Amino acid sequence: MLKFDWFAAPCAYALRPVRSDAYGLSQMESEDRAMDINSVGIVGAGQMGNGIAHVFALAGFDVLMTDINQDALDKAVALIERNMDRQVSREKITEAEKSAAMARIKTTLKLTDLGQTDLVIEAATERETVKQAIFEDLLPHLKPETILTSNTSSISITRLASRTDRPEKFMGFHFMNPVPVMQLVELIRGIATDDATYRALLKVVEKLGKTAASAEDFPAFIVNRILMPMINEAVYTLYEGVGSVKSIDESLKLGANHPMGPLELADFIGLDTCLAIMNVLHEGLADTKYRPCPLLTKYVEAGWLGRKTQRGFYDYRGDVPVPTR
Ligand code: CAA
Repeated sequence: MLKFDWFAAPCAYALRPVRSDAYGLSQMESEDRAMDINSVGIVGAGQMGNGIAHVFALAGFDVLMTDINQDALDKAVALIERNMDRQVSREKITEAEKSAAMARIKTTLKLTDLGQTDLVIEAATERETVKQAIFEDLLPHLKPETILTSNTSSISITRLASRTDRPEKFMGFHFMNPVPVMQLVELIRGIATDDATYRALLKVVEKLGKTAASAEDFPAFIVNRILMPMINEAVYTLYEGVGSVKSIDESLKLGANHPMGPLELADFIGLDTCLAIMNVLHEGLADTKYRPCPLLTKYVEAGWLGRKTQRGFYDYRGDVPVPTR
């Protein structure tokens, strides 16, 4: 007769009694020690990449950031310095902490240089083909113990992980924008992610002084599953003439106490990113309630992507943002 082994069941794994080795360390402790993270490699110097570099450097990690052109790297470092200056002027950090953090940030144009870091965070464009190409190029150069993560805001972690040589050491590591200000980090385990990897990232989040929320690996996880349909609905509200850009944003700020209106927030996140996330929800959950608004598609097709291109639902080219509708 078959006997069920409860300790072999995945859900019971964490309850299994831990064994001590010759050095008096439990198996769990020695696994965790093997995953001590001191250096981090960041792929992409855009708004997420530079924000992530900022918080890791301030928390004492050595940071190596890469992008495809030097200009993007130079701009990112200059922006990090400006954002840290703002923190110094508001007495959030000292000048000495800023200098020490800036000294920990190095840049490189060679993706493969990231191979020796303990943790890699991919923060490139929100397109699956781009992310897969990055992992493919990087994999042959990675140390076996390096934890690989993606800052994707919506794409399947299980699918991204399955194309790598280390699905058990792969996780979704999703920061919010602006990274130095937002408290939350979403941790998303793929189907194969092991407990030691999860615990290692929990420790990293703690060291960053942020709060982790665990999300299951389904399209757009928690934050964007809820936030993006709201933004998309705001664009429909505009498209159908229910309100203007200004009245929609004012309504949510004054009527629901949101710090930014949904259209202002969409511009801040990037309209291309918002559209990409809506497409992942629409395709991944196959429900028409996630249909991206045609007006959102039109703005993206025009290259009006929000703040980063100086035009989106607002025009940012003058002294004050002016609604485009
Ligand atoms: N670096 C460091 N500090 C920054 C910063 C940055 N990039 N941006 C803002 N700050 C700090 C300011 O110095 C200021 O600090 P104090 O409180 O000490 O004064 C504080 O943040 C507030 O900034 P401001 O006074 O300049 O402006 P504000 O009060 O209008 O706040 C905001 C700006 C923090 C962005 C606020 O509007 C906000 O919280 N907006 C909502 C942002 C949001 O929803 N983000 C999540 C987006 S979704 C996401 O990221 C997931 C995804 O995958 C798409």
